[in-house]
Amino acid sequence: MTARAHWDPRSPEFLDDPIGAYDALRQRCPVAQSAALHLSVFGHADTLRILMDPDTFSSQASRRVSVPNSMDPPEHSAYRKIIEPYFNAERMTQFAPRLQALSRDLVARLPVDAEIDIMATLAYPFALQTLCGFLGWPDSVHEPLYQWIHKKNAATQSGEHAALALVATEFDSTIRNLLAARRKAGDQVPDDATTRLMNEQVGARALNETEIVSILRNWTVGELGTMAASVGIIANYLATHASLQQKLRDTPSLIDAANNEILRIHAPLLANRRRTTQAVCLGDTNLEAGERVSVLWVSANRDPSVFENPDEFRLGRNPKLNLLYGAGIHACPGAPLARMALESIISVLLAQTQQITPSSTRAPTHNAYPAGGYSQAPIHITRNHKVPDDLRPTEPEEPGLNDCCGNGCEPCVFDTYIVEKRQWEQDIKAWDARQASRPASSPSANQADEDLAPPVSQTGR
Ligand code: HEM
Repeated sequence: MTARAHWDPRSPEFLDDPIGAYDALRQRCPVAQSAALHLSVFGHADTLRILMDPDTFSSQASRRVSVPNSMDPPEHSAYRKIIEPYFNAERMTQFAPRLQALSRDLVARLPVDAEIDIMATLAYPFALQTLCGFLGWPDSVHEPLYQWIHKKNAATQSGEHAALALVATEFDSTIRNLLAARRKAGDQVPDDATTRLMNEQVGARALNETEIVSILRNWTVGELGTMAASVGIIANYLATHASLQQKLRDTPSLIDAANNEILRIHAPLLANRRRTTQAVCLGDTNLEAGERVSVLWVSANRDPSVFENPDEFRLGRNPKLNLLYGAGIHACPGAPLARMALESIISVLLAQTQQITPSSTRAPTHNAYPAGGYSQAPIHITRNHKVPDDLRPTEPEEPGLNDCCGNGCEPCVFDTYIVEKRQWEQDIKAWDARQASRPASSPSANQADEDLAPPVSQTGR
């Protein structure tokens, strides 16, 4: 058995230039041992082998049960069946207008011509609003959720089990309070993803509270950092690649594919874990049953044996090889939401700016393990002076008695109307608040754009 190489994701070389450090390690050895990530696998082929063989590489790799992340088949399949429909095409279509509205609102609040830290001003607020909006959670949850992410990262960095155990359950009480409020609401309970989840069955029984909390935790605290990191990485990449930035501004249909390729080059999520169920050989290393293993997305997606010239941005690469959203039975069920959200915010950012450039004075600061992406990413934006339309949301039309076919459809046109009406009531509140926060001299949102047109010399186009 070959002696294992050792490494530390918390060492200075990984803190200064994580991507470069992972590349260097992958060239030196196919697998290596670390206290934080156990036996880590660096190559694409070995990573895929682990992902596609859940019998040998179990997901029961941590002390806490996490639904469905830490489960193996057949239990895992039963929970995936519940979760996947929440991200199907119909649900995404329903959420799309909300996502567009919040993207427009956030970008419209950025300064017109200034240097900003994209993480604080756009990436985190966007990730918070997207995930909470998707679940129907109130704005009051944003701050505790944001604080929790930072506490959890600090506890993981410290490597202290006691600190991790303390912080692990801290946000659960916020989720439990949200669930309790819904149980009390009776008929007034909102019809949204959280309420639907509370009424799900697994096999012949209802989901219990621990399972519901675990699922909701994975959809929020589990992904907030990854979503925010993705926005920061893409915005910073476009700031430093002016011709690509302009190409996407001119051809927005390329944005989704471009996002996936940028996030292949620079991963927002570092690693996930498995545990061996039997003795197995990985790379040049023999493992016993019960050993913990990590797959490193940040390294596998830059393996030059699969991605020729991995640092080069190429839209023509085979998307099936990109492991951004994983592969196999644990592949990300939230990928449709993540992709739609990233496409929405980057499209709006590009449409509402003339130019995004890197800061002339400050470089971005890399996040430290276990977080990916940047903690700060200063970039300069020059917004279009033309204020985008912020049209008053249109009230949905109430169906008449003749619109119901009488076949007991689920949902019926009247149910759909009630959902749309509630959404409209929320949208109109947000729209009213935007109008109220406009400076007194500012014309109303529905006034013609000509009123706001900048002097010709300032448009730049
Ligand atoms: C850019 C954003 C995202 C990235 C890069 C990402 C990436 C991933 C990856 C690589 C996995 C596989 C983990 C493994 O094999 O152990 C995964 C799993 C998962 N993701 Fe995402 N994800 C993102 C956003 C989301 C969102 C928005 C949600 C839900 C709201 C979500 C929910 C999940 C869940 C529940 C799992 C576990 C699935 C299972 O174990 O069967 N993800 N994600």
